[in-house]
Amino acid sequence: MVEVVSKAPGKTIWFGEHFVVLGNPAIVSSINLYTRVYIRDISGKHFVITSKNLNITYDGKGDPGKLLPYVRIVEIFRDMGYYRPFYAEINSRIPVSSGMGSSASTAVAFAAGLAKYYGLELGLDKISKIAYEAEKIVHGKPSGIDNTIATYGGFLYYKKGLFRRIRVRWPPDYLLLIADTGIERSTRIAVEKVLDRYRKRTRIMRKIYEAAKELVEEALKALRKKDMSSLGELMNINHGLLVSIGVTIPEIESIVQNSLKYGALGAKITGAGLGGSVMILVENKKKDRIISRIKDYASRIYTVKPTRYGVTTSTQQS
Ligand code: PMV
Repeated sequence: MVEVVSKAPGKTIWFGEHFVVLGNPAIVSSINLYTRVYIRDISGKHFVITSKNLNITYDGKGDPGKLLPYVRIVEIFRDMGYYRPFYAEINSRIPVSSGMGSSASTAVAFAAGLAKYYGLELGLDKISKIAYEAEKIVHGKPSGIDNTIATYGGFLYYKKGLFRRIRVRWPPDYLLLIADTGIERSTRIAVEKVLDRYRKRTRIMRKIYEAAKELVEEALKALRKKDMSSLGELMNINHGLLVSIGVTIPEIESIVQNSLKYGALGAKITGAGLGGSVMILVENKKKDRIISRIKDYASRIYTVKPTRYGVTTSTQQS
């Protein structure tokens, strides 16, 4: 029997979400929350995909519902000439629709796992491209930032499908809190809302996009210098820009303002907004106090750190 386990990280967008959709740069990092996909042989002709988080199973027949993106990945492999029945189990610690890249990390882990199961050495670029096809089903026309970071990991500077690594040695005295509002929202709707405002208020919005671009360049310098106080300040400015393009909600503002009031260096929406998550840069020693002050506004608070690694796979033959 062939057994494959693959694992891909979630992400947090540090700077540039939304602006990236119209070609601005963004900075993103992987975080130490993962999706794991386990794949093994089964008898018969069909494949079975089960998601422990969504609590649904698709047995290769009928409507796959929310598992459609992964069925799409199976089809892509089939079009490339590869198919063999399998059983796949998806397990994720990343909450759904909360801005931490759960769908992309699942798509990447699934694509990499399936490649390994079929005995293929596809390379990371191909894995990311296959996952992007699944992301299109979930998000419409995503920028591609999510599948890229789930594939490569680390810190990336991302622009129009191209990216370069940013070397960052994370200082041990700092961490990130990711406060999930628990309000699920659609990235697609948030992106449409912003694009709509861009069409209506083009001259003002252009200036905001210009500022967002400048912000990313400054943030690169702060990250390289490990200047955490500047990084926090730039996160706050980025949040202000996200407010001005219309993707905040009162629940997010309560988390952001209370985090800052009780000592966070920076706090901002991460991802599409309108719900989802807030990322908060804190010193380790202030973590507990900040958590206690924001916990009433969040459904869950994750303590995370940026990680260096992207998708990994391992295989066992028995
Ligand atoms: O909230 P998420 O994880 O779906 O991130 C969305 C990021 C956007 O910039 C708003 C959209 C995109 O495709 O990049």
